[in-house]
Amino acid sequence: MNTIDMTDAVWQRLLSIREGETVAGEAAAMALYGPIAGARGRFIIAQVGQSLDGRIATPSGDAMDVSGPDGLAHLHRCRALVDAVIVGVNTVKADNPRLSVRLVDGPSPVRVVIDCNGALDGDEGLFHDGGAPVIVVTSADAPGKGLPNAETIRLQSSGKGLATGAILDALAARGLHRVLVEGGARTIARFIEERQVDRLHVAISPLIIGAGPSGINLPPVARLADALRPPAAVYNLGSDVLFDCALSDRQGQ
Ligand SMILES: NC(=O)c1ccc[n+]([C@@H]2O[C@H](COP(=O)([O-])OP(=O)(O)OC[C@H]3O[C@@H](n4cnc5c(N)ncnc54)[C@H](OP(=O)(O)O)[C@@H]3O)[C@@H](O)[C@H]2O)c1
Repeated sequence: MNTIDMTDAVWQRLLSIREGETVAGEAAAMALYGPIAGARGRFIIAQVGQSLDGRIATPSGDAMDVSGPDGLAHLHRCRALVDAVIVGVNTVKADNPRLSVRLVDGPSPVRVVIDCNGALDGDEGLFHDGGAPVIVVTSADAPGKGLPNAETIRLQSSGKGLATGAILDALAARGLHRVLVEGGARTIARFIEERQVDRLHVAISPLIIGAGPSGINLPPVARLADALRPPAAVYNLGSDVLFDCALSDRQGQ
């Protein structure tokens, strides 16, 4: 139950917004982060930090400073507001990420790595840093390697890998409903293609990398009329500009 505190100032503000004034300051922060923080059921955000030319890393896989400081703070806010963060195995191999909340106050989410073919060897940093719990999602017939300090979830894989809905069901069964899909491109694409993403956050940093993987790779469409055109709100984060795209109308309630 939400309690309304309708002061005159709040009402005047709502009337201004009705007339087309853009929200700023606290209202903008609530509009951007409120749906994540307030979700009580399944709510899936995918976030990409990319350059002006749509790259998420250099061709050799260096992605450490694609986002500016405010883009990174945004990512950490998202992490702090969800129950679990998902990355693909290539991101763990390339970046050795901690996936923790360090730039803002707040809890670190459970860390989930999708490693369909059992490519992790257990030496990766997140298995040994004493941080939030780690879950590895793998195929039922992948090699049965024991990974240290981690739970392994085994799911049936089809020729196309693991169904992203089944991954989210397995996390929901563990009480993990609000989920951030952090990358990389292939992992985010699978979740978007299978219509599991409610909000797509694209944070653009004023940087031109020139070559390298792009943030989102979906099956090609012949005509622009068939491209995804989600309703989007645009936020000035400071160092980066954020597009908050609604890919579904689910509110996570
Ligand atoms: N700038 C950013 O926001 C950002 C964020 C994260 C990562 N990155 C960068 O992105 C690059 C890595 O991206 P990437 O696209 O190459 O790889 P990725 O998405 O990290 O990992 C892809 C791999 O994960 C496994 N996987 C993911 N979803 C799966 C599913 N539904 N079913 C089965 N397997 C699944 C597959 O492993 P198998 O091949 O073993 O089947 C797939 O090849 C790195 O350079 C990293 O630095 C950038």
